[in-house]
Amino acid sequence: MTAERTDPIGEEERITLTVGAPAHGGHCVARLDGQVVFVRHALPGERVTALVTEVHSGYLRADAIEILEPSPDRVAAPCPYAGPGRCGGCDLQHVAPPAQLAWKTAVLREQLTRLGKLSEDEVDALGVAVTALPGGPTGWRTRVRYTVDAAGRVGLLKHRSHEVVPIDRCLIAHPAIQALPVLDRAWPAADAVETVASGEGDVAVLPQPGAQPATVRERALGRTWTIGAETFWQVHPAAAETLVGAVLDLVGPRAGERAWDLYGGAGLFAAALAERVGPGGRVTLVESAPDGVAAARDNLGDLPWVEVVPARVETALARRRVAGPVDVVVLDPPRTGAGARVVESLTASGARAVGYVACDPASFARDVRTFRDRGWRLAELRGYDCFPMTHHLECVGLLLPES
Ligand SMILES: C[S@@+](CC[C@H](N)C(=O)[O-])C[C@H]1O[C@@H](n2cnc3c(N)ncnc32)[C@H](O)[C@@H]1O
Repeated sequence: MTAERTDPIGEEERITLTVGAPAHGGHCVARLDGQVVFVRHALPGERVTALVTEVHSGYLRADAIEILEPSPDRVAAPCPYAGPGRCGGCDLQHVAPPAQLAWKTAVLREQLTRLGKLSEDEVDALGVAVTALPGGPTGWRTRVRYTVDAAGRVGLLKHRSHEVVPIDRCLIAHPAIQALPVLDRAWPAADAVETVASGEGDVAVLPQPGAQPATVRERALGRTWTIGAETFWQVHPAAAETLVGAVLDLVGPRAGERAWDLYGGAGLFAAALAERVGPGGRVTLVESAPDGVAAARDNLGDLPWVEVVPARVETALARRRVAGPVDVVVLDPPRTGAGARVVESLTASGARAVGYVACDPASFARDVRTFRDRGWRLAELRGYDCFPMTHHLECVGLLLPES
């Protein structure tokens, strides 16, 4: 038996440990002498030697650099830039694609129990599972923001660092982005290069954030959308239709109903809701970014029963620019989630159902907890791997009032 270490573990020290379950953020949790260690580039059950990268009070971060006992789910990373100390863009290149889904499912479950305060039985009853989208684990990303270093070289950032790793190819980028003449030249005047490959075959390269935006055309719901190249649009080619399908299926909007599309962007969900509620119903879209507001107005002009409210959701609800009663609500907030005040407004809005589209399981779970504290329940949940090779996931939850 080895004695427990009493001296502190330092940065760049090598430690040997057995890795436990995945946690939100692209790492697994391990324990060493009672201390929590978040280990990247490892898989649950593996015995690894890891290099300590950060020391914090209460936990360490480390990169697995030698795999002593590999998991059967381990694969050779297809990307040469993946791995400890290299590009931080993908966290799961070393994980077989089916095991990436199991990893994300485990993270979603863990967030719902730990932050959402659901019991294991409640999570089991939801049948939580993250499922793959069509198209495979590489070549899916239709928007890539490259960073430029001081020497004008373009690449992607190291994990938790401002250091640029120059690359000559990003494997998860859509082939139309990989084909752009971006990575084979210097960009001395830029801090970043934004690239877009749209669903209708348009490409855009924005030499600098804030430069005059190009427009691109996207295709969803049988409509062609013209949006600014920097306007929010789902980055996986199958995501927009998949998420709309899940929302409509779960929320079930009916003819004549009143609906809200909060954090509505260019109006993807508003268009779907408008078609379901019809001209006898009403859809109110709330969006704070001016380019999103302009895109929604431009693209939904044929659906005059959609009103676009240019405002922050928090402000629109607090000042009653948008006020109940409403029948159904769809919200699709940024990574930070909606927050307690917005959720409390929704639980008081009279809505019969809320469809919550979430790109961050932690903020989603916190918001679910607020819904539950106000007498609502998470009735259904679907998970989607809209971001293969990375730790990110998307989920759609149906929240219903208890009574
Ligand atoms: C995840 S995107 C969803 C967009 C749209 N639902 C879609 O699927 O294309 C979140 C959107 O919320 C907007 N947003 C962020 N914070 C907001 C806020 N506090 N109030 C209103 N809109 C906000 C962003 O500009 C962005 O368009």
